[in-house]
Amino acid sequence: MTEVANPLQVARLLDGRALAAQIRSELTASICQRQAAGLPQPGLAVILVGDDPASQVYVQHKIRACAEIGVQSFCHRLPADTCQADLLALIRQLNADAVVHGILLQLPLPAGLDGRALLQEIAPHKDVDGFHPQNLGLLAAGLPDLRPCTPKGCMRLLDYAGVDCRGQQALVIGASAIVGRPMALELLRAEATVTIAHKATRDLPALVAQADILVVATGVPGLIKGEWIKPGAVVMDVGINRLADGRLVGDVDFAGASQRAAWISPVPGGVGPMTIACLLENTLQAIDQAVAHRPGTAAHR
Ligand code: GUN
Repeated sequence: MTEVANPLQVARLLDGRALAAQIRSELTASICQRQAAGLPQPGLAVILVGDDPASQVYVQHKIRACAEIGVQSFCHRLPADTCQADLLALIRQLNADAVVHGILLQLPLPAGLDGRALLQEIAPHKDVDGFHPQNLGLLAAGLPDLRPCTPKGCMRLLDYAGVDCRGQQALVIGASAIVGRPMALELLRAEATVTIAHKATRDLPALVAQADILVVATGVPGLIKGEWIKPGAVVMDVGINRLADGRLVGDVDFAGASQRAAWISPVPGGVGPMTIACLLENTLQAIDQAVAHRPGTAAHR
């Protein structure tokens, strides 16, 4: 991890960009080996509905990352007025398609679509986002299979920095189904003492002051002030917010928090690249599961 020269900044950077590059190069090697052994190329289907600008950028990054490591991608860009029935039909078609090993439905969806019902339709063994209730349930039971990518990426960052979560006070701010909740389950699995804060939480600064490990996923730029941070804490900022002047910032006051934390993830270049690296990793995990689910194989019968 990168040492920082600025004397005001005591925190070391959780350099997601560097770690993600390392993971991608390991995955590339593994795909080359598969190819040499005559095994099928991994395939990821991405469904993007509507024209949310941030989603367009995220999907572009995902598709580019697939190409870089040798995963075949199938991008389905659909208009914002696509109906629920057409999306369900597309998901069912992708579930049955043998060249598609992973399916990703980019969120958020345009108003009027029932995302929950659509996510439940994705075959759990192709659910590379780990959002299907079966996969979330397995994580909750402490028996993870395909794990949500952002929380998995955060755990990788902790691991890389040599942080042992056992017995630490961990605070997750934001209780979304795709980040906050699975993040809390990941930290619990790592034997941290976990608190989840959300919109109704009282006295957030007091909770932050006690946290050895802090994960912030609220979408509110600069919500967490530097002076709230416990000295020596590990801070992971999941927020990616575009300000009016075009700058990308996280949910944490980076400059202030850097003067107190031991480790901090930057925005951009922290958690974001790890989410994509873990998506690629999940796609490779899914290809092995696809074999087990193919009609005619022992596991399918
Ligand atoms: N929107 C924001 N993050 C994610 C993610 O990790 N997966 C999907 N499918 N949509 C998202």
